[in-house]
Amino acid sequence: MKAKSPSPLPLLLLFLILSLLPSSSLSDDSAAMQDIAKSLIVPQWKLANGNPCSWPGVSCQGGSVVEINLKNKGVSGELSPSISKLSFLKSLQLQKNQIKGDLSSLANLASLESLSIDDNAFTTMPADFFSGLTSLQTVILDKNPFIPWSIPDDVSKCVNLVVFSASDAAVTGNIPDFFGKMPKLQTVTLSYNTMKGELPASFKGSNIQSLVLNNQQTGSQFTGRIDVIASMTQLSVVWLQSNGFTGPIPDLSELASLMDFRVRDNSLTGVVPPSLTSSATLKNVTLSNNKLQGPMPKFADGVAVDIDKGNQFCSKNPAEQCDPRVTTLLEVAEGFEYPMDLAESWQGNDPCKNWQGVTCAGQEIVVLNFANRHYNGTISSAIGNFASLQKLILSNNSLSGRIPDSLTKLQKLTLVDVTNNDLSGKVPEFQQDVEVRKEGNRNIGKEVDSSGGDSGSNGSSSKFQAGTISGIVIGVLVGIGCLVAVLACYIRSRKHKEFGWVSTQTPANEPELVKIGVIGTNLNDGSWNGRYTQSSTGNTTDSQGMYMSINAIRSATNNFSEDSIIGRGGFGVVYKGQLNETMIAVKRNKVGLMGKKGNEEFRAEIDVLQKVRHRHLVALLGFCDVGDEQLLVYEYMPGGTLEQHLFECSDNGFSPLTWKQRLTIALDVARGVEYLHSLAQESFIHRDLKPSNILLDNDKRAKVSDFGLVKLALDKQKSMMTRLAGTFGYLAPEYAITGKVTTKIDVYAFGVILMELITGERVLDDTRPDEDTNLVYVFRRNILDKENFLKSSPDPNLRLDEEDLISLWEVAEVARYCTAREPSQRPDMSHAVNKLAPLVEKWKPTACDDDDDNDGDVGMSLRGRLEGWQNGESRFTEWYNKSLSINYD
Ligand SMILES: *[C@@H]1O[C@H](CO)[C@@H](O)[C@H](O)[C@H]1NC(C)=O
Ligand SMILES: *[C@@H]1O[C@H](CO)[C@@H](O)[C@H](O)[C@H]1NC(C)=O
Ligand SMILES: *[C@@H]1O[C@H](CO)[C@@H](O)[C@H](O)[C@H]1NC(C)=O
Ligand SMILES: *[C@@H]1O[C@H](CO)[C@@H](O)[C@H](O)[C@H]1NC(C)=O
Repeated sequence: MKAKSPSPLPLLLLFLILSLLPSSSLSDDSAAMQDIAKSLIVPQWKLANGNPCSWPGVSCQGGSVVEINLKNKGVSGELSPSISKLSFLKSLQLQKNQIKGDLSSLANLASLESLSIDDNAFTTMPADFFSGLTSLQTVILDKNPFIPWSIPDDVSKCVNLVVFSASDAAVTGNIPDFFGKMPKLQTVTLSYNTMKGELPASFKGSNIQSLVLNNQQTGSQFTGRIDVIASMTQLSVVWLQSNGFTGPIPDLSELASLMDFRVRDNSLTGVVPPSLTSSATLKNVTLSNNKLQGPMPKFADGVAVDIDKGNQFCSKNPAEQCDPRVTTLLEVAEGFEYPMDLAESWQGNDPCKNWQGVTCAGQEIVVLNFANRHYNGTISSAIGNFASLQKLILSNNSLSGRIPDSLTKLQKLTLVDVTNNDLSGKVPEFQQDVEVRKEGNRNIGKEVDSSGGDSGSNGSSSKFQAGTISGIVIGVLVGIGCLVAVLACYIRSRKHKEFGWVSTQTPANEPELVKIGVIGTNLNDGSWNGRYTQSSTGNTTDSQGMYMSINAIRSATNNFSEDSIIGRGGFGVVYKGQLNETMIAVKRNKVGLMGKKGNEEFRAEIDVLQKVRHRHLVALLGFCDVGDEQLLVYEYMPGGTLEQHLFECSDNGFSPLTWKQRLTIALDVARGVEYLHSLAQESFIHRDLKPSNILLDNDKRAKVSDFGLVKLALDKQKSMMTRLAGTFGYLAPEYAITGKVTTKIDVYAFGVILMELITGERVLDDTRPDEDTNLVYVFRRNILDKENFLKSSPDPNLRLDEEDLISLWEVAEVARYCTAREPSQRPDMSHAVNKLAPLVEKWKPTACDDDDDNDGDVGMSLRGRLEGWQNGESRFTEWYNKSLSINYD
């Protein structure tokens, strides 16, 4: 290949000028590319000419090389250090080739966003490889025969990192602490290496969605407990199998998207928590070859399980209860944090068969002796269940907390030996004939922190707080579209199904609750603080009528009992409740790292929510914020979500929605969103329309919910930049790329929902062929051939007559129109309403008789009527029932 041919004078001048410019120019890149082509053997480049921008796989912008994509192109040879001169390079894709030799530093490729060199034969990973890669979002290094290396600190400065994957890449050392502090990091893949150490504590509250650490090579494995996972609320994929993890599986109830949980081949102990078996999102779980105890867990049908080998379950039959003595002993072991020696020794379902620490007389337990075992944790109050117990010996451990009062009711007890521990608090009053040995406990008799065995209600509330590190959120990524595509492809190739979140991360110091931003200050005096400081004293502010007492909500939800939970999310938990015969849904926000500001913004959110009232929007009925609690009370929707009806109807025992029902739902949603978009002074944008946010009543009429994502746009301000929020698949392309919010992003999402209503398919579905993963593309392609479309595209569950087919086709056209690539070409929501309304009326002329414009008034009257609620007056019920009848015709 020849370099540039000799140039005439003007060209030479231009050349000189260009080379004086600070930025790289074609000539620089050209020279660098020539270097690269010398050592890299690219079959496709053999016949290429002198201009690298025309080489296969090379893309340029303004004369600079921005992308090199040679994925799976039979490339061999070595990568020249000149690669680091391509200063505008955004994407380097060299995966699946046979490139060997040293990797050179990419230092200072400040534009580089995506780097994939997996599946090659690279050998050295230079220490400064990541230095200055400030734009880097995705890095994939899997399957290279590197000389062992550890993750350099420079990676912590790649602040935009979303995917870090180095599986089977000879990585050594610990998981760096900073991974937990990188706000955008979603995917960490480090399997098949020789790493060691514990899960870093900094993972607490991180936004990581996929944590893949399995199969560290023997001799070097991850160890320690996995409790931190309980607070990683965004996790969807957790692969920890084939390591040396110990301790119990923590409470996973805050992990609202957990899909794939693999921990087989570790040394986990303890009882499998109900939060895992009852997870509604779980698809795949492996637990075999641990030391798990208690009943063999039973998972829902459809969950792929590998659980029954090599554990210490009390029975071989899923869900069969253990002997009551075993159940109680496991509570005792839980107090000691499920130590390994007990997990190993306590086999079967009969504790009198040689169980460590347990002595029986006949079938009755008479002595519990756990002296000298280095146990941590507390003394479980469950010991009080062993009525036959004579001696309890716990000396020479590290137990803390108090001696539980429950022991005093044991009539046969003669000895309690707790010498040499770290117990504190008042010693319960035992009967005279009980010998209590308590020397060697520094704080016995003194009140320290009462987190010990008996602290019932405090135990659970502190658990809640432990999980309340605000889950949290990205700033806008310009060019995220590209990243998302890379991520999606990558994930697809890894067969992680339904991994569909473009997470709505905010920086770690911003409370996740506050998703509503109030832009500008002309709504009022601009000071939330001033408006609300008196709210609990009975002053009348706007929100005042909606204030509810915590006690009323507590008793309505049976003190936030597990049984009342109907949903979970990154925001917290939703409970079902009953208040004077009236069903309510209570959204209990996670409040942890939120200071005063959080409270003000909470009130601001309520103020916004109050304004948004429509019969097709789920209504806010009240709120409460005291202490650490922030609660929003909504009307309860008994019919479940559209998602359940559309995609999971057989799982939920629903019959498939008919076309007429779907059409009505579409119109309901369109009306709700139209209203949001066109409130008198302001315009609200939902930002996260999707079937799981559309709730149904018993008549299959729909209301839109989750205004957590509504953004308030001011009059005249037709668009604005925001943090990206929403769900992959429903994100309008321009929004994904620029973060610019207009009402048209809701129109797009609505179009996607119409497509789902028509086809019964999820917008993203990995079971479709690769190129068809996104329903929008498939749908827009198929619709070009009307006859074929009507034959093959509609949901097979639909029974369509001639008239249905006509209306289905019209809805399909609306769907196409709404998902136009250009936002300006999408219709307004009112257009969708106008299109859909006549179709609905065709078959049910009275369906939409009342006038939507009046619905705003419902909200006005609401506030006043709610005043009596706290006192339990029946006025509310009366009003509520009436409003139901308004709402449901
Ligand atoms: C569960 O994992 C196994 C093994 O990787 C895989 O073959 C199977 O398809 C997975 N099942 C689901 C439902 O994801
Ligand atoms: C108790 O905690 C210490 C320190 O964390 C640990 O080294 C020890 O292994 C724990 N004891 C048991 C029995 O797990
Ligand atoms: C606890 O340790 C002390 C000193 O190491 C020892 O004398 C005592 O016997 C131990 N107690 C029990 C119950 O083993
Ligand atoms: C719970 O903790 C608080 C202090 O945080 C304390 O005042 C209260 O007595 C505790 N309640 C119980 C049941 O231990």
